[in-house]
Amino acid sequence: MQGRKVLLGVTGSIAVFKAAGWVSALAKEEAQVTVMMTEAATRFVTPLTFGALSGHQVSTDMFSTDAEEMMAHISLSGDAEVVLIAPATAQTIAQLAQGMADNLLTAAVLASAAPVVVCPAMNSKMLAHPATQRNLATLKELGYRIVEPENGPLACGEVGSGRLAEWETVRETLLGLFADQDLAGQHILITAGPTREPLDPARYLSNRSSGKMGYALARTAQRRGAEVVLISGPTSLPAPPGVTMVPVQTAAEMAEAVQEHAPGAQIIIKAAAVADFRAKEVASFKIKKKGADLRLDLVPNQDILASLGKERRQDQVLVGFAAESNNHEAEGRRKLEAKQVDLIVVNDILGQQTGFDVDTNQVTLITQEGAEQLALLSKEETANKIWDKVIALSKGKGK
Ligand code: CTP
Repeated sequence: MQGRKVLLGVTGSIAVFKAAGWVSALAKEEAQVTVMMTEAATRFVTPLTFGALSGHQVSTDMFSTDAEEMMAHISLSGDAEVVLIAPATAQTIAQLAQGMADNLLTAAVLASAAPVVVCPAMNSKMLAHPATQRNLATLKELGYRIVEPENGPLACGEVGSGRLAEWETVRETLLGLFADQDLAGQHILITAGPTREPLDPARYLSNRSSGKMGYALARTAQRRGAEVVLISGPTSLPAPPGVTMVPVQTAAEMAEAVQEHAPGAQIIIKAAAVADFRAKEVASFKIKKKGADLRLDLVPNQDILASLGKERRQDQVLVGFAAESNNHEAEGRRKLEAKQVDLIVVNDILGQQTGFDVDTNQVTLITQEGAEQLALLSKEETANKIWDKVIALSKGKGK
């Protein structure tokens, strides 16, 4: 979001305080946020709060005689890259659907050529009312993006739909608007996280994968316009908005889910750290300690990526990861050949900033053509570089 020019329009809902948190989050990411508020919004939170958080004067009055505020609806909308209306009341939604311009906020929306994102927040009955639903449908027809409100307890004491969307969902919508849609129309299958192989009712074998790289791939692909299915082992990460999640536990469950979803995918990325072995037999009762030693009989799991490589369609792009502690490039190249994939992404699991559970990564991309080492980047930046490579590979296949 760095440097992005966001014009935030705040309207009179109890959820105004949440929008103040969003301004703070945007400012932390160094976005340039300018805020305009309806008179009703200023009853909930003062313009001073939004001014302090955004670092810019807040506009509220269409008829101000203050030199800086004059013609604010034109100057505000001028260089905004996106107009975000949050929270959006039923009243403002109705005004926007009618193309009305009787306050600063609605006039600025009409005067802007930037995309408009609307985040409704209201009582569930107001939201369900046919008039509101019709107005929202009209806004969609006009090309406005609606970030659907969520279900849950509402300020009025009722429980239902109408809660302002979570910031993460809205942030993804904004990032999607800014991103090139160069993966539009692509169906992408991603696996992420560790698998858990049970030993008894209390214990399992697993590994240190956090799932962060696979989730970053899913988020960035979705932003770039793809339809993403994310098959994930157990992680503590929130589901990326707009992505179809398939939660699994074991390697066998992951293999089954991959088999189900692979035929519909043009691109498959196996970022999951699949356990290579499972217990030969899972004990029905907790294994008790008897004596000093314990031997576990393990049997190999199916290599999901290698199976995909064998059965692949030639038009599919198949990508594997190789988590290595030594001989990185040679191991990556060996896996590229052995698993018959188009690209292997090698990462160093012993590096301080490239290992498990960190937000950065430094990977080498290995293809038949050669190896390319990327710089130390955030996992999202790394993911975007991987997508650039995948798009190039996909073009090479004539797609
Ligand atoms: N992989 C898989 N199924 C397995 C094991 C690995 O699909 N049972 C996939 C991973 O998702 C990854 C790639 O294979 O994309 C490489 O995984 P890695 O653990 O680095 O390699 P292994 O084949 O397990 O080889 P080794 O343990 O010898 O390093």
